[in-house]
Amino acid sequence: MDDKEFYLDAIRDVVPTHKEDQIQDVFYSFLELEHLYDSAIEIVKTQLNIFDNEFSMRFQRNPIHNIESRIKSPQSIVGKLRRKNFPISPESAKKNLFDIAGVRVICYYIEDIYAIADLLTKHSSFKLRKIKDYIRNPKKNGYRSFHIILDAPVYTSTGMELAPVEIQIRTIAMDFWASLEHQLHYKSTGDIKIAASLTTELKECSEIISSIDERMQDMFKKINSL
Ligand code: GTP
Ligand code: MG
Repeated sequence: MDDKEFYLDAIRDVVPTHKEDQIQDVFYSFLELEHLYDSAIEIVKTQLNIFDNEFSMRFQRNPIHNIESRIKSPQSIVGKLRRKNFPISPESAKKNLFDIAGVRVICYYIEDIYAIADLLTKHSSFKLRKIKDYIRNPKKNGYRSFHIILDAPVYTSTGMELAPVEIQIRTIAMDFWASLEHQLHYKSTGDIKIAASLTTELKECSEIISSIDERMQDMFKKINSL
């Protein structure tokens, strides 16, 4: 089913009393929502590239390895609203979900993460909503990353609107772990025994990876101080 049909069905489902033209109106609001979040992603990515280029000019190296971004699919938006018992509407998505727009910044070194996070959180046009430092305080399973949710200002023909963007900043090593952990977790659902033994091993791998990150950072500092 394509995105449009999915939205229309979901809307018909929750507001069965709506007439077809009202349903099309709600659908149009969802399209506007997608445009808003898409634009917010572009703004954040542009700012990140400006930082990266400035670093490169000043220190002859890039702190950012690569940037990924994604917008939550209509299916996931409706699914999450349902799961959390929020009303299914564009207004409700805007008010209750803060990860519709997602940007992942993969850095070379741990210190690059804090430099980027610092620049973003001090940026005067971004309004900070939430910070979670899963590097200093890793999750129980070993997950490491620096998370920021900020509101980005989007200027359209009708004025300015703020849209929240979830930014995950991590090293290449942290990304390697998180990607495989995600995949293993996904593959092992249903088999509780595998999941239990995996948990310990994944945690160990996370610690090994973290110590490698620190050693690479130290080597980088030593080379730079020569
Ligand atoms: P939800 O998005 O509703 O889960 O919100 P939350 O407040 O629990 O956010 P949290 O910062 O813990 O996680 C947000 C995102 O970070 C997730 O959607 C994942 O992309 C990533 N993440 C968090 N924990 C893990 C983890 O244990 N493993 C992996 N691979 N990714 C994680
Ligand atoms: Mg999420």
